[in-house]
Amino acid sequence: MNNGREQWATKMGFILAAVGSAVGLGNIWRFSYVTGDSGGAAFLLIYVLCIFLVGLPVLLAEFSIGRRGQSDVVGSFNNIAPGKPWVIGGVLGVLTSFLILSFYGVIAGWVVYFLYSYLTGAAGAVEQGGYADFFVNFIGGATGPVFWQFFFMAVVIAIVFFGVKKGIELSNRIFMPLLALILIVLAGYSLTLDGAGEGLRFLFTPDWSAFGDPSVYSAAVGQAFFTLSLGMGAMITYASYLPKETKLPNAAGGVVVLDTLFAIVAGIMIFPAVFTFGLDPASGPGLIFITLPEVFAQMGTGGTVFAILFFFLVAIAALSSAISLLEVSVSYLMRKMNWKRQQATIIAGVVVTLFGIPSALSQGGPLTFTLFDLPFLDLVDTITDKYTLPLGGLFIALFVGWGWNQVDALKETGLTDSIIGMIWLWFIRIIAPAGILWILFLNIF
Ligand code: PHE
Repeated sequence: MNNGREQWATKMGFILAAVGSAVGLGNIWRFSYVTGDSGGAAFLLIYVLCIFLVGLPVLLAEFSIGRRGQSDVVGSFNNIAPGKPWVIGGVLGVLTSFLILSFYGVIAGWVVYFLYSYLTGAAGAVEQGGYADFFVNFIGGATGPVFWQFFFMAVVIAIVFFGVKKGIELSNRIFMPLLALILIVLAGYSLTLDGAGEGLRFLFTPDWSAFGDPSVYSAAVGQAFFTLSLGMGAMITYASYLPKETKLPNAAGGVVVLDTLFAIVAGIMIFPAVFTFGLDPASGPGLIFITLPEVFAQMGTGGTVFAILFFFLVAIAALSSAISLLEVSVSYLMRKMNWKRQQATIIAGVVVTLFGIPSALSQGGPLTFTLFDLPFLDLVDTITDKYTLPLGGLFIALFVGWGWNQVDALKETGLTDSIIGMIWLWFIRIIAPAGILWILFLNIF
């Protein structure tokens, strides 16, 4: 029915893959340090609001575009609205997914290095108070960060190589339940620690003064887009492998709820531990690499087991997200260049890995170049988080809300003549674009 285009084997396979894309470094590494830096509960509340007011409607919009378009992110826009400028949103998506994957692979490489160091005993042997040096020495090296980035990217490339059913769907079917299990075990353990009460208060009792700070809103919208894999076509691409029958609103709701639960449970795992050992929740991107290892060290022998499970968990979460990032380019190249999947995967994978090298070398390593005071990795992260992701999301929302025939858009979601459909349409027409525009404005000025 779809001229030989690949498809998911099962509906569950699609949902798991979409959850796999959403749940990643964003839910653990990024969510925990952004929450810690932004004061905890107030940020969490605004973030959850953004997820439901902006994230969910845009996710449903991406699913609709992908399934109707039956093509990669550029092709899907073109198929629905031939010859219209909306396709810029698609091009932006390919670009953004490429940029994100370039540094995502670097940070995932750090995670794999920590896993390896705990397995060999090297990380467990570090003196108390020594993890900042351990981390800084590693990321500032000239070969380590690149080696582990390559290692991680090789696994990503290998899985995407095997295609939608045998690579992406199968790996997510194994990884996602495993991930949930490890996370729940670790969070359960954290709740038995002395600082559990304080950690939970930090996460759930808002400091109302934080609501007046615009930077908290901008961080929340950025985090909402990043964590739901929105604004860059990963969800469009995944939905394009769907058959017609799947109910898109249910799938979108499921992804949003699971992704948010993952982040909150990750917070329940991390903050009690941070407070139990008197560490600073606002220690930035090093939170899971410096602060948590200090925590593991103070836990005694059980700490090493905890650490191994933790970094394994984060590595797997990162892997399923990186797969979806690479698939955006692969799917685009397969159509555009008429390449076979294998060829597209290797070329896109190698190019994006090479482009990540300057990021890998920029964290105290040999690449000392900065632009706007930002090292290369931070620069690429900022460009995507503050500008291209929200801009991509804006294109998607405006396209579905105003560019695409309303009747058709509603039909694709199966929400014709329903109240939910009307509400969704107004969110995607007015509320989401207004919110995104306001954040873009805040970020630019
Ligand atoms: N959502 C992923 C995470 O939370 C990151 C990601 C962003 C993946 C964009 C795909 C696309 O880690």
